[in-house]
Amino acid sequence: MREIKIAPSILSADFARLGEQIREAEDAGAHRIHIDVMDGRFVPVISMGVPIVEAVRRVTRLPLDIHLMVVEPERQVEAFIDAGGDIINVHVEAATHLHRIIQLVRRRGRQVGVCLNPATPISAIEEVLPWVDQVMVMTVNPGYAGQPFLSEALGKVRRLRTLLDELGLKAELEVDGGVNVETAPRCVAAGATVLVAASAIFNDQATVTANMARLRAALAELHT
Ligand code: DX5
Ligand code: ZN
Repeated sequence: MREIKIAPSILSADFARLGEQIREAEDAGAHRIHIDVMDGRFVPVISMGVPIVEAVRRVTRLPLDIHLMVVEPERQVEAFIDAGGDIINVHVEAATHLHRIIQLVRRRGRQVGVCLNPATPISAIEEVLPWVDQVMVMTVNPGYAGQPFLSEALGKVRRLRTLLDELGLKAELEVDGGVNVETAPRCVAAGATVLVAASAIFNDQATVTANMARLRAALAELHT
C-alpha cells in the first residue's frame, strides 16, 4: 500500500495566526504545507506571494508545496525556490515551454510538479511524465477554497494512476480541491497519493487538530 500524504493548504487558514496553525497541522501529522500562489490573471483573484512563503519557511521543516496559479510561471519559479519552496508546481495551461521550466527546477535541486485544470486532458503532460516528481489533478477549477469536489475528475486520476504504473514511474499523484472526509477516500481509491485540503482542515467549525484527525480516520477506514 502506498503512503498517503496530507498537504494542508493555508489558503483558508487564519492569516493572523498562521504560524500557530501551521505548527498545529504539523503536530497533527501533515506531510507538507501547500501554498496557493494566485496572480489575478491565470485565476481571477490574488492570494499570496514570496513573503508568505519565506514566513512559512521559518516556522516549519515540512516540505513546502508551491502551487503556482500564475501566467508566465517561468518568470516566478526561481523566486519561489529562493523563498524556500521544495516542490514547485506549474500549470501546463500557463506554461509555453513546460519542459524548460522542469529543467530549471531540477537544475536548482528542487522537485517539480505539473498541474492539470479539470478541462485539460492527460495528453497535455504525457511527454513530460518521465521528468516530473508529481502530477497534480485539479478537482475544482483553481481560484478559491471551499468549492465542491468535481467527481468527474476522478476518472482522470484513475487513468493517470494506470499510466504512471504502466510506465513504471514513481511520481506522486496529487489531488487538489474539494477534498474532505467524504471525497478523500475516493481520491485514494482512484490512485491519488497526496491530498491537498484547505477548508476541510482550516475552518471555524473545529480545530486543525480535530480536522486532521477526522481526515486521517476516514483514510484509515480504507485499510480495514
Ligand atoms: C484552489 C487551490 C486549492 C484550494 C483548495 O485553487 O489550488 O489548493 O486551497 O481548497 P479546498 O480544499 O477548500 O477545496
Ligand atoms: Zn492548490
